[in-house]
Amino acid sequence: MKKYLKEDKWSIIEEGFQLHQHEISESIFSIGNGYMGQRANFEEAYSGPTLQGSYMAGVYYPDKTRVGWWKNGYPEYFAKVLNSTNWIGIGIEIEGEILDLAACTVREFTRVLNMKEGTLSRSFIAELEDGKEIRVEALRFVSMARHEIGAIRYAITPLNFSGKVTVTPYLDGDVQNKDSNYDEKFWAEVYKEVGESEAALTVKTKKLDFHVTSVMSFEMSKNGEPLVLELEPIEKDKYVGYRTSVDVQQDEQLVIYKYVANVTSRDYGFGQLLDAGRAALKSAVEAGFQELHKEQVNVWADKWRESDIVIEGDVAAQQAIRFNIFQLNQTYTGEDDRLNIGPKGFTGEKYGGSTYWDTEAYCLPFYLSTADSSIARNLLIYRYKHLQKAKENARKLGFVKGALYPMVTMNGEECHNEWEITFEEIHRNGAIAYAIYNYVNYTGDQAYLGQYGLEVLAEISRFWEERVNYVPAKDQYMILGVTGPNEYENNVNNNWYTNRIASWTMEYTLEVLQYLKKSEPTRYEELVEKLQLKEEETEKWSEIITKMYYPYDGEKDIYLQQDGFLDKDLTPVRDLDPKHTPLNQNWSWDRILRSAYIKQADVLQGLFFLGDRYDLDTKKRNFDFYEPLTVHESSLSPCVHSIMACELGYKEKAYEMYLRTARLDLDNYNNDTEDGCHSTSMAGTWMSVVHGFGGLRVKDGELHLNPFNPGHWKSFSFKVMFRGSRLKVTVGEQDVTVTNETKIPAKVNVYGNSYTVGGLSHVKVNH
Ligand code: BGC
Repeated sequence: MKKYLKEDKWSIIEEGFQLHQHEISESIFSIGNGYMGQRANFEEAYSGPTLQGSYMAGVYYPDKTRVGWWKNGYPEYFAKVLNSTNWIGIGIEIEGEILDLAACTVREFTRVLNMKEGTLSRSFIAELEDGKEIRVEALRFVSMARHEIGAIRYAITPLNFSGKVTVTPYLDGDVQNKDSNYDEKFWAEVYKEVGESEAALTVKTKKLDFHVTSVMSFEMSKNGEPLVLELEPIEKDKYVGYRTSVDVQQDEQLVIYKYVANVTSRDYGFGQLLDAGRAALKSAVEAGFQELHKEQVNVWADKWRESDIVIEGDVAAQQAIRFNIFQLNQTYTGEDDRLNIGPKGFTGEKYGGSTYWDTEAYCLPFYLSTADSSIARNLLIYRYKHLQKAKENARKLGFVKGALYPMVTMNGEECHNEWEITFEEIHRNGAIAYAIYNYVNYTGDQAYLGQYGLEVLAEISRFWEERVNYVPAKDQYMILGVTGPNEYENNVNNNWYTNRIASWTMEYTLEVLQYLKKSEPTRYEELVEKLQLKEEETEKWSEIITKMYYPYDGEKDIYLQQDGFLDKDLTPVRDLDPKHTPLNQNWSWDRILRSAYIKQADVLQGLFFLGDRYDLDTKKRNFDFYEPLTVHESSLSPCVHSIMACELGYKEKAYEMYLRTARLDLDNYNNDTEDGCHSTSMAGTWMSVVHGFGGLRVKDGELHLNPFNPGHWKSFSFKVMFRGSRLKVTVGEQDVTVTNETKIPAKVNVYGNSYTVGGLSHVKVNH
């Protein structure tokens, strides 16, 4: 871990070109708008180590599975969000010498991710081989207001010479995914055109036929005066561009504005793509760079109004939390219910940009509280639309009924190909059910249950019904051969969390059925008919709920992570020689699996989700037992521990865990940020502040707050949208203020007392 970024409240700043950290910076300084994302690659040529990455949400490739030993039931492919046409490229030559920061002397380099405005900028002086010096100032963004548009302003000033600057703006579709299984290239050219003022390129994926059309145009000015340019068109395989040269005097500023529209066949028919791209580009060019920039600033101002967290008295913490919120808002904007949240967002290729249980278990709460409820609803609808595929998935694995959602997916099909995850990590089904509960509990949108929720719940319950194992000798139901959230144990019997979430799902499904029967009888009848739901089934669910087996140790009075857990060597992590950690880099997999070391919250995940069903003592006993055995080698781990520690009053532990999640990428804690940022942990960080330090819970339709100040901050404040009102909660050293920023009055419970906060007013409560 090397700290090289400057602390600042609103920006991420790299001062001095950190060549060896460049791929990490490419991830951290990524920009995105939910529709497309771009790593912080340079516009000009760069011959140093780099992961060139431009990604279009939902455009993926089914890369043929690569495994050593095929097992029946494996998915045929691993889906990957594709590295798409590089649209940012602008080649620069100074008197014939290519500008390449890996090959020249770089001075006064600054790279800034301006989170307030949603832009990435860079400035530096480059001294070329022959001593010529230029200053470059580049600014770019992907538009939040017009999601298909990317815009770049790139300015060059010769500092100690006058001469010819040659500029080559281009679109390059000849790109490859770094993680391609067979080193294959996934794109084929469909169409290209270099017109007088516009160049267009359409490429398509070799499988699935996704088409992406990029249309670009550019303008140049010298010292503010527009230039009339002589352009040399360039066409190569999957590549279009222009080359033009301009004589520039010393200290004159040459500015290039490059505009690109990227459109895809997800939104337009093949025949419409070019026109759609041209139309989007035309209106962007007419608006001009300044106007597009202004729009960008405005959309981000709205985003921050809804989701900002302010931490007073700790710049590093302030920067970190804003970075997390910024990346989450860049990753998913929620307008398109076909999209989801990849564990790395658009910042890298690891995990293929696919959907994991991370979305339901970790990301949903952020969108529930900081955006209109339709956004979180769309995350649920995404799974509803995949229900048929989840049923097929269950059939494929030999189940007669029910639905098993995939552990990793792009289109509803499973695409993870490690058996212990594909076949065994079935707890993900529970997270999908839990998300429905979470959404309805938070928003009060009961109508969702009849519209979509029940169908998903019933099919998941059917899956559990078939997956459980009745043991006559014990007259109990068990779930054998699973992997729980802790992936450092495989093929265990009766993972407490899995048994618990399975039984909870059936319980909730029955509750929803009762609710619908009473409140929406006609819809209830329709659904019973549609699902062909039989009384024997619901009776069976009730029986399983009553007779579910939960591993438990009477002596320690704790739930057991799985049947054999106490047979392990229980030496706590603190007694391990630090040279052994991280275990996943130092131990054989076999040794890890036999150990008691826990990768991420498991029993505690259950106690967190179902927090209102367990008393503090139970949570405390289990936390005290499991946390010391936990190595937190998943980025999903520290946040749950931080939230639970807050509830238990373990303030130091809560803060320690919070620190591990908050600056995970900025300080490259796990030594892997070059692969991309950890979006799930970003959502977890947000939860650590709001659900942890803020103590936010929703009970019986009322917002409950139980805040404490971790002591390292003067104060902190967060915003939550709740049932139509937006509340700002400020936790100071002595008191808590809840300010209603809307006109809709809100009921809030602080430290167990209920208050009504009138429109545009506030209440203050002492700690
Ligand atoms: C975690 C999983 C998670 C995945 C993607 C793994 O390391 O163990 O729980 O779904 O990463 O974030």
